[in-house]
Amino acid sequence: MESFLIKGGVPLHGEVTISGSKNAALPIMAATLLTDEPCVIRRVPELSDTRFMTQILGSLGATATLENGTLTVHAKKINDYADYDLVRKMRGSVCIMGPLLGRLKRAQVSLPGGCIIGARPINLHLKGFQALGAKITIDAGYVTASAKQLTGTSIFLGGRAGPTVLGTANIMMAATLAQGITVIESAACEPEVVDLAQFLNAMGANIVGAGSPTITITGVAKLHGAEHEVIPDRIEAATFLIAAGATKGEVTVKGARAEHLRAVIDKLAEAGVSVERSGANMIARRKGKLKPVDITTLPYSGFPTDVQAQMMSLMALAPGISIITERIFESRFMHVSELARLGADIEIEGPSAIVKGGKPLNGAPVMASDLRASAALVIAGLAASGETQVNRIYHLDRGYEQMDAKLRALGARIRRVEE
Ligand code: EPU
Repeated sequence: MESFLIKGGVPLHGEVTISGSKNAALPIMAATLLTDEPCVIRRVPELSDTRFMTQILGSLGATATLENGTLTVHAKKINDYADYDLVRKMRGSVCIMGPLLGRLKRAQVSLPGGCIIGARPINLHLKGFQALGAKITIDAGYVTASAKQLTGTSIFLGGRAGPTVLGTANIMMAATLAQGITVIESAACEPEVVDLAQFLNAMGANIVGAGSPTITITGVAKLHGAEHEVIPDRIEAATFLIAAGATKGEVTVKGARAEHLRAVIDKLAEAGVSVERSGANMIARRKGKLKPVDITTLPYSGFPTDVQAQMMSLMALAPGISIITERIFESRFMHVSELARLGADIEIEGPSAIVKGGKPLNGAPVMASDLRASAALVIAGLAASGETQVNRIYHLDRGYEQMDAKLRALGARIRRVEE
């Protein structure tokens, strides 16, 4: 297993170019299963998750290659079965269900199970498929959805923690090939859902309202091949903006979209990290002291849960008390005890973490538990004095393209070593 060795205390300076969005790419890759014609997807980040999704497409019968950020898929003939080994490795693979059900009217997929950040049920996905007319059976760890035909209807997709991102993607994909009109109410408004809708429309689907809580899909008989470029990764961009603030540096973030990052930029400003727009770029800089801020994670356009851990590292450096409340995933605080190993003073009280910031952080060996927790530990290591070893960075490699190389180009002393 590989680790990062970080010698902290160096302010980051320079330019970084943001990769394509992992969470937009995954459902878009799955959507290529909806047509028997070839599709080309550009700006696909080369990560273990996207490589894995490429393998899943292959195992379902498609020809799929991912090279230099371009995915070429031809799903001429596909089968409807995805086994446990495929689904358990990446929870995001659940988004193959919608396309399989839409095209073949049958999908048999292993239940994904929970993960370190929470239970992650798929009840809302199944509720949506059922509303479209699919019969759902669960047996021996597999869920099967099947229908003679899918019929458009009105579906309310709100759940206990608000809308579901991949649930919205799944129902939207299945409904493109349903008969009649489907209206998804309480749909997820994330930019990744909008990007998927744009790709589906390029394939000949008829979707309006993506990006709002009401999405209307008028079913069509067939979808055709299309080309698409994935949006930039707003979570990767947020991670670099925060890293600039944490190290008291100045970083120009290129290729990201500031309009996708309003909640993050607003909180960074409150914390004393300015993010200035300069043409298509953003420049993050911190001059003075950091200030504590309270944060609650919310569905888009609120503060993203995928940036909660990184922001906690920043708040550990801000003198005073910050309260960070996690409203999307119930146990997404695994980074807290690892940050404590670096000297951070953080207490968990129910869904909130109380950060008593401003204590000096000193390097130590730490363990990454999930993707965003890993990014938080890297940020803390960059700001800490001495050497930090972040173990198990395979979590980080799932979602950040060449993070170590990008950080080195900004002056960070970081290298990848065998544990
Ligand atoms: N939920 C249900 N029932 C469902 C589906 C979800 O109760 O059927 C709950 C979840 O347990 C959670 C909330 O609804 O409490 C929101 O979950 P959502 O379904 O929106 O999450 P997801 O679609 O499975 C995607 C991203 C996550 C990101 C979340 C929230 C992908 C591949 N994953 O997951 O990304 O945190 O949306 O924005 O798009 C990451 O990149 O590190 C990551 C975990």
